[in-house]
Amino acid sequence: MSAADFLKNAKFETLKTAVDELGIATIEINRPQALNALSALVVSDLHELLTELSSRAGLNGEQDWSVRGLILAGAGDKSFVAGADIAEMRDMNEMQALAYAGKAQEVTKLFGALPFPTVAAVDGWALGGGCEIAMCCDFIYATESAVFGQPEVGLGLIPGFGGTVRLHRFVGSAKAREMIFTGMRITAAEAQEAGLVTKLFADRDALFNGVHETLKLATKQSPTAIARAKATMAATESQSISEGLTTELSNFAACFGTPDMVEGTSAFVAKRKPQYPA
Ligand code: CAA
Repeated sequence: MSAADFLKNAKFETLKTAVDELGIATIEINRPQALNALSALVVSDLHELLTELSSRAGLNGEQDWSVRGLILAGAGDKSFVAGADIAEMRDMNEMQALAYAGKAQEVTKLFGALPFPTVAAVDGWALGGGCEIAMCCDFIYATESAVFGQPEVGLGLIPGFGGTVRLHRFVGSAKAREMIFTGMRITAAEAQEAGLVTKLFADRDALFNGVHETLKLATKQSPTAIARAKATMAATESQSISEGLTTELSNFAACFGTPDMVEGTSAFVAKRKPQYPA
């Protein structure tokens, strides 16, 4: 079964999935009664879905480019995700917290390793684990009414799904510290100014149209090149400039002679549009 067919047929209690004709997939966290808070069941559904999806999509085995982009959203018009499930966490001990947050961190890594662009479409609350799960996507688009924050210290906790690690990569160390140490909420406009959000939209419909338009652009590019660019950027994130350049160089050279590279460069020379995947 292709990655797209898997998503079209997937049945999860807490997730809604869809794929359009361009291979743009949507995963919607579907727990609106709790503002889409990440219960243990949501985390385990996401983990199972992403494990299956990543075993099929992209360069694994037979190349599968049936999915070319992914949108992560929350169901309903109130909330993207209002964080980890506080009621469930209240009764957890340290070992249970390790298992719960460990699995959620795996989910963020699985998102990050997907071979196509992923966008968090944030409408409403993106607090705590909600902000953290948005940050594991490649970039974040939001409605003007979206609200972001890392309120964990107000609960006697610290961020546990990647907030202390990823937030400063978007907004810089000082802004991340300001947000995490105060639990302050920031508006979508402030989030955009800080670099957390890439683009803002007037309402939910405009947001989804905007995400689709951007991902549509990506579907016209070489999927193998996107996957390689993404893997290269992930690898170089923890490297020095010199090590990063070496990683980039070997990945750049490895593109040469690939069907997509032959197609892309030949199409340019022949003054025609390239057809991907070649
Ligand atoms: N966990 C569990 N349930 C939640 C929830 C959460 N994070 N956020 C909201 N809900 C539930 C509420 O309990 C409520 O349920 P009931 O109707 O059964 O009472 C329902 O969702 C609606 O919420 P509110 O009535 O509170 O809605 P509101 O509009 O008045 O307020 C809000 C919205 C400001 C987002 C408020 O719900 C809130 O502060 N939520 C918690 C936000 C938060 O602290 N998130 C961080 C969690 S910790 C974390 O994420 C740790 C980590 O890094 C892994």
